[in-house]
Amino acid sequence: MKIYLAENRGFCYGVKRAIDLAVHAADTNCPVYTLGPIIHNPQMVDQLQEMGIGVAARLEDIATGKVIIRSHGVGPEIYCQAEAKQLTVVDATCPHVKKAQQAAQALLKAGCRVVIVGERHHPEVQSILGWANNEADVVETPLEAQALPYHSRLGVVAQTTFAAAEFDAIVAILQGKCDECKVERTICTATDLRQQAAVNLARNVDSMIIVGGRSSANTARLASVCRTAGTPAYHIESASELKAEWFAGLQTVGITAGASTPDWVIEEVYKKMEAMNMTDVVKLETGTIVTGTIVGVRHDEVFVDIG
Ligand code: F3S
Repeated sequence: MKIYLAENRGFCYGVKRAIDLAVHAADTNCPVYTLGPIIHNPQMVDQLQEMGIGVAARLEDIATGKVIIRSHGVGPEIYCQAEAKQLTVVDATCPHVKKAQQAAQALLKAGCRVVIVGERHHPEVQSILGWANNEADVVETPLEAQALPYHSRLGVVAQTTFAAAEFDAIVAILQGKCDECKVERTICTATDLRQQAAVNLARNVDSMIIVGGRSSANTARLASVCRTAGTPAYHIESASELKAEWFAGLQTVGITAGASTPDWVIEEVYKKMEAMNMTDVVKLETGTIVTGTIVGVRHDEVFVDIG
């Protein structure tokens, strides 16, 4: 059996940036907290905790020191509250999320009824909602879009990790619900690239392993687009969840990982699969397949012994 790694997988720019900012904010002279887990990856949260960076569920739980705003961002009221408490704010909001927040704010100012296409309870969507004065509609499915009342002007933004094709389908419905529909396609390219690479790989293998935190929305989306492509997909958080019976009788398996999955977690997964006697690991390039035995993975590079 052969294992293929998706060309685009794992940490995205926004997550790398957030972790770098958090690591730089670590301080022995004052308490440092992230407001909520920095990313949806428990292993990474544990590593930061070892560096003295705690997790506070609410701003009320932080009396003094630094507060790190994670890549999902927060609404404007959190910045005001942090300032009132004289906390030092380290803003690790992903610039793509900032763009979605600013787009929602601008659409509201332009007199549109704002619609956020995304998962209602996701912290990023909540942050965008905050910048739209908490007055926006949130829709996640075509059915929910269909149920919206008529508005003369709609302004649509997307949760950055929303699947592109589903967003377009929802926008098509919303266009029929108003006279004027302004669309800000705030889906980030990292998400698109990971989804495209996942689908591309899924179409060429018997089964997919999707690595990432259980509560990571973009990881769950990767599993969902693979299944939509007709390929069984297992979403796991760590190598310990792999089961040998998933691979019985298969010729090919693909691995991809959400934008908040560290390389070393992916590495543990393929190492465990390697230990299950699946030794040929290759990186799927567009149009090219290199076969060989993997000897390491670092950042976006896969090192393969093709001898
Ligand atoms: Fe940012 Fe896109 Fe990553 S929105 S956090 S670069 S998935």
